[in-house]
Amino acid sequence: MTTPQSIHGIWTARWTFILAATGSAVGLGNIWKFPYMTGVNGGAAFVLVYLLCITAIGIPVMLAEILLGRRGRASPINTMHKLAEEAGATKFWGGIGWMGALAGMLILSFYSVVAGWAVAYTWLTAQGAFTGESAEQVSTTFGNLLANPRELVWWHTLFMAMTLSVVVHGIHKGLERAVRILMPLLFLMLLGLLVYAMTQDAFGQSLAFMFAVDFSKLSGDSILSALGHSFFTLSLGMGAIMAYGAYMARGQNLAKTVVTIGVLDTVVALMAGLVIFTIVFQNGLEPAAGPSLMFQTLPLAFAKMPGGALIGTVFFLLVVFAAWTSAISLGEPVVAWAVESTRLTRLQAALIVGVIAWTLGVGCALAFNLWSDVKFSVGNLFSLNFFDLLDKLTTNIMLPLGGLLICIFVGWVMDRAIVRAEADLHHPQLYRVWSFLVQIVAPVGILVVMLNPLLQ
Ligand code: TRP
Repeated sequence: MTTPQSIHGIWTARWTFILAATGSAVGLGNIWKFPYMTGVNGGAAFVLVYLLCITAIGIPVMLAEILLGRRGRASPINTMHKLAEEAGATKFWGGIGWMGALAGMLILSFYSVVAGWAVAYTWLTAQGAFTGESAEQVSTTFGNLLANPRELVWWHTLFMAMTLSVVVHGIHKGLERAVRILMPLLFLMLLGLLVYAMTQDAFGQSLAFMFAVDFSKLSGDSILSALGHSFFTLSLGMGAIMAYGAYMARGQNLAKTVVTIGVLDTVVALMAGLVIFTIVFQNGLEPAAGPSLMFQTLPLAFAKMPGGALIGTVFFLLVVFAAWTSAISLGEPVVAWAVESTRLTRLQAALIVGVIAWTLGVGCALAFNLWSDVKFSVGNLFSLNFFDLLDKLTTNIMLPLGGLLICIFVGWVMDRAIVRAEADLHHPQLYRVWSFLVQIVAPVGILVVMLNPLLQ
């Protein structure tokens, strides 16, 4: 039943899987989204729930997802079909793969728009656009970018083209090459910024904002956001990590792998948060500014530090690379499926996926200007513009739902002996803890958090 290798190839080394999966996990979710969501949701209480979700749900689900991919050795859609058949279960479990493919395209569309902002900022910073500017001037620059549909679409198009050009080349020439050098470099740059933040007076305030928990700030809504974000930031719930797992060699220690990825991802997010909030408080800015937060804060630090234009350019460039290695993993599952199951070549499949995601992305870009009045609503549950709609639909609904189904499948549907052998957790205790998390804690947690808004 198990095939030794997927038709798309296999990672060249143990470290490559970790690098690629970390490349997928570390992206705009860490540097752009985590800080702004922490700001919008009031700070430390959100961070605490997020950390809990990462440990008790995210990391165990990641292990489950890799396990599925490595046993199925195919795209998530075909992997789920195969494994459902093997377990004697209904083929509807393939739905996990289908929903994931859809979620991947939807995320890719708005992700590419935001990554486009980072490309634009690399360009602006390189020209010294922010040197000596005040907080207001920096905000105005961002406002002007958002108000300009042509420019937004242009940067979005550029980023989408970059993403596809890697996906087209498959895992060896494309994916591996991109992550090997750039991820460590990003980490070093972030560390440098953190050291800079520590020299600022507002660093203590930033620490308190992120870690001094005040539970009165916690709402059902922000708990759902924290859960959704823990899936988003670890690239879980849509098959990205499952697809990468299919290219993973046997005999690699899964527990160590997932903990490494989870820790790296979390450390990057916390570092980004500390840096950004220090700049927020230092300049009397608003922590709850929303999606614009990163773009209104970081340029200010670069405006003030010596050599800021150069440092800023390199930094934004690395953010673009982090987004790039993540975006690739959003397209990979569907493209891999199309290559396996249709007559399309990798190139054709990548083009089709790209055109669909690009078109939806144009809608997201217009949500900031021409279509800012177009709202999507269901009763009085929510009223969102197109960008927010895609974000919330995927992050708060599709990803946790995908994670829930994965837990049920691995925890309850698959043969226990197979799961045990595949998880390959060397200590029986560890296996028992993981099983408990996947069978009970994660599914119940996800269900309660997801159903909570409906019960109120
Ligand atoms: N994790 C990435 C980030 O934090 C985004 C991402 C890549 C993703 N692949 C994914 C999110 C799959 C959800 C599902 O930027």
